[in-house]
This record gives sequence, structure tokens and C-alpha cells, in this order.
Amino acid sequence: MNSINNIVILTGAGISAESGIDTFRTAGGLWEKYDPAEVASAEAFARNPDKLLAFYDMRRGTVGEKEPNPAHHALGRLDAEWQGGLLIVTQNVDNLHEKGGASRVLHMHGQHRTAWCPACDARPEWSGTFADRPPCPACGSPSLRPDVVLFGEMPYHLDQIYPALRAADLFVSIGTSGAVYPAAGFVRDARDLGVQTLELNLERSDGSHWFDETRLGPASELVPAWVEELLGG
Ligand code: OAD
Ligand code: ZN
Repeated sequence: MNSINNIVILTGAGISAESGIDTFRTAGGLWEKYDPAEVASAEAFARNPDKLLAFYDMRRGTVGEKEPNPAHHALGRLDAEWQGGLLIVTQNVDNLHEKGGASRVLHMHGQHRTAWCPACDARPEWSGTFADRPPCPACGSPSLRPDVVLFGEMPYHLDQIYPALRAADLFVSIGTSGAVYPAAGFVRDARDLGVQTLELNLERSDGSHWFDETRLGPASELVPAWVEELLGG
């Protein structure tokens, strides 16, 4: 892997699983207990905002106190030591990449750290709840909501992600099932551009056959080993 300069990494719920955060689609995952159409879609928000806000208040509460695992720390080390281009695109709304020392991170499905006010477009730092309809700190509107992307809404930062993919030499996918687009399509976009592709996942995913190489195992082992290989070699 000598000719690699620019790296794009896509992460999903699997990288945070060993920190104790539920994944979505694995056995016992969140989407077995909750229907995403009821608690995580733009349509549900329009129909029954209380239910959706209560779901995100619950998730914020469980995710907020978790700590990064060796996979997050390894990416933090990579961010600190990699001299070339690096972009970590995460689908996760937790802040474990940042807690693990990474700063070149984009949250394409939003995050819990901030709230979003559709009335004035403010994104204030936020650690409170939403179900009680707190006023927006900037404009007072009661329409403050989680700063997360719902099904049926456009993911964030695509204007930075696609150029990074076009400039990449290596695309690495970690802990994601490849079920949700557009993130699930990044591997094919990368392939079409001639970018080398590597998947690190507990088990084969929907998109495994698109990758040049798939390594199977827990992220806490695979990611530190891959980072060591990259930095050491
Ligand atoms: P999923 O729950 O769909 O997939 C998690 C993936 O991680 C699966 O392929 C697991 O095999 C793998 N996995 C589990 N534990 C692992 C471990 N310890 N090490 C490595 N891999 C592990 O989660 P995502 O692909 O992130 O979107 O889901 C994508 C999006 O769907 C989420 O961002 C969310 C969800 O609905 C929205 O809410 C918009
Ligand atoms: Zn506002």
C-alpha cells in the first residue's frame, strides 16, 4: 500500500458496538425493537413528533455516557500521524471518534452534540431533551429538534464527501451493513473511480462483494491492526 496518500473512511454502528451502543440491523439491534418508519423518518416527525423526539431523547441518554474503544483510538492515532489526506465519514451520531482523538470527521447523519432549529437554522450546542419542546436559544421558536438526518432527508456534507472520494487512493468501510444509501453506494462510487477499497466488518455485509478486500472480525481488533500496518509500512 505504498502509493496511498488520500484516505476516506466510512464508519457505521459496528465501530461503536464494542463501546456498548446498539447497532440497528444485527440480531437484537434497535430496528428490531423500534420501527424506523415510526421513530426515525421525516414522515413520522410530521405525523407524530412526540414519539420521534422521545426516541431521540432516549438514544441521546444511552449514547452520551459511552467511551471510545480501541477502534476509535486507532483512528484517532491515524488522524494524528497520517501526513496525507484523511476524511472520516461517520454515519454515527455518537461522538466517539472525537473522544478517540480524531478531528477530520464528518457526521453525515448528524450528531447528538448539537440541536437544529429549522426556523432560524441555528445549530446550538445541546445536551438537553427535546420532547419537552424547549425554545430555540437563538430565536425562541419551539421547533428545535435533534440535529440528526431522518429517513427521507438529505444526508449532511455530501458536497465535501464526494470530492474527497474522487481524490482518494483508498476507501475503507468499517462496521456498516451497507443497507442505507447514499453511504452504501460509496464503495461503488470509489470502485468506478479506480480507488482501492477495503472493508472491515464483523461479518460479510450486503456490499461485501464490491470491495477489493474484506477482513472479518471485531473492529476493536481489525482497525488497530490495519492502522499499524498502514503507519508501520
Ligand atoms: P447497521 O446496524 O445496519 O450495521 C452494523 C454493521 O456492523 C453490521 O454489518 C454488523 O455486522 C457490524 N458489526 C457489529 N458489531 C461489530 C463489531 N464489533 N466490529 C465490526 N463490525 C461490527 O448499522 P449502520 O450500517 O451504521 O441511519 O446503519 C446505517 C444507518 O442506518 C444508520 O446511520 C442509521 C440507521 O438507520 C439513520 O438513522 C438515518
Ligand atoms: Zn431558532
